[in-house]
Amino acid sequence: MGKRIQIFDTTLRDGEQVPGCKLNTDQKVEIAIALEDLGVDVIEAGFPISSPGDFQSVEAVCKAVSEPTICALSRAVEKDIEVAGQAIKYAKRGRIHTGIGTSDSHIYHKLKSTPDRIIERAVWAVKQARKYTNDIEFYAEDAGRTDNVFLAKVIEAVIAAGATVVNIPDTTGYCLPEEYGQKIKYLVDNVKGIENAIISTHCHNDLGLATANSIAGIINGARQIECTINGIGERAGNTSLEEVVMITRQHPDLEFETGVNTPLLCSMSKLVSQMMGMPVQPNKAIVGSNAFAHSSGIHQDGVIKNRETYEIIDPKEVGAHESKIVLTARSGRAALNFRANRLGYSMDAELLNMVYADFLQVADQKKEVLDTDLHVLMEKHRIYV
Ligand code: KIV
Ligand code: ZN
Repeated sequence: MGKRIQIFDTTLRDGEQVPGCKLNTDQKVEIAIALEDLGVDVIEAGFPISSPGDFQSVEAVCKAVSEPTICALSRAVEKDIEVAGQAIKYAKRGRIHTGIGTSDSHIYHKLKSTPDRIIERAVWAVKQARKYTNDIEFYAEDAGRTDNVFLAKVIEAVIAAGATVVNIPDTTGYCLPEEYGQKIKYLVDNVKGIENAIISTHCHNDLGLATANSIAGIINGARQIECTINGIGERAGNTSLEEVVMITRQHPDLEFETGVNTPLLCSMSKLVSQMMGMPVQPNKAIVGSNAFAHSSGIHQDGVIKNRETYEIIDPKEVGAHESKIVLTARSGRAALNFRANRLGYSMDAELLNMVYADFLQVADQKKEVLDTDLHVLMEKHRIYV
């Protein structure tokens, strides 16, 4: 048995903060039900104080799903915490996610405060949240740029006050994987009472390191990853759920496991992309339309002989239909023959050579040679099924 990593999905909160990605209550409920089927452990359903619509959505998600914990975000502000507490009233398992900035930049510029007052307010917020639930997650905003000694003091104080999960966000996506991993290890080694809380990663992707940082986090002792479908989220996005889940699966040597039902990953990705009107880049790892497509002759030849030559994941494992052999001017005879065979045509080596010469002419004119083009080519060479 591997070490169980909790998957905390924040598509409906951090993901939905993206301009243009706003969802209504029905859409949020539909996504939450799909996330429950996917097998995530926690759904962060929204930030209830932010608008009446968001409050209603969090409440509706609490009523619609029963397996995952439903989490509501709040600042370390009395009204926020009270409204978050009300919004999760109907959850079978409800969590309040409260917190405050801990980096110098947040303490002195954003909050115009002092380190001591920040600790006081953090402790106060956790105690307030405990009026509504015993499942309290505390976030130290901008922990990525927070001095480790001070961060440890904050985390120790909030655990003593009753926080059951401590979230260490790299809010600005600044950390390098080694640095972020060391930060988690520092907390594991230096915070009294750390064994009473789950450490959570929450990494942003400003330098393209969100996934690497999250993995460094769990290698060093974190047991929850906060992530979103398709990696959507503020600015360059959050850690992508499908990436961290598949990393834990493809690397059994790491001895981690999640509860995610991976064959649902591609359909989940499509649902979120369609509902949010946010296309997935074709080269997106795991769920992009090109994630299992091969177009150069050398790769195609290898994949046709043995899929594993150029694929480390079986597409079926993530719900992608199959590996794709795409015909372009970079394709070779093996690929042309493979695709023609699939349409029912067969050619000996001599005929294949002749058709291939014509195929290259067509391919040089087009980005991709389609089945319809192949039928025309075959007809021209009087090849029939
Ligand atoms: O990025 C961040 O720091 C956040 C917190 C509110 C958890 O999203
Ligand atoms: Zn965030």
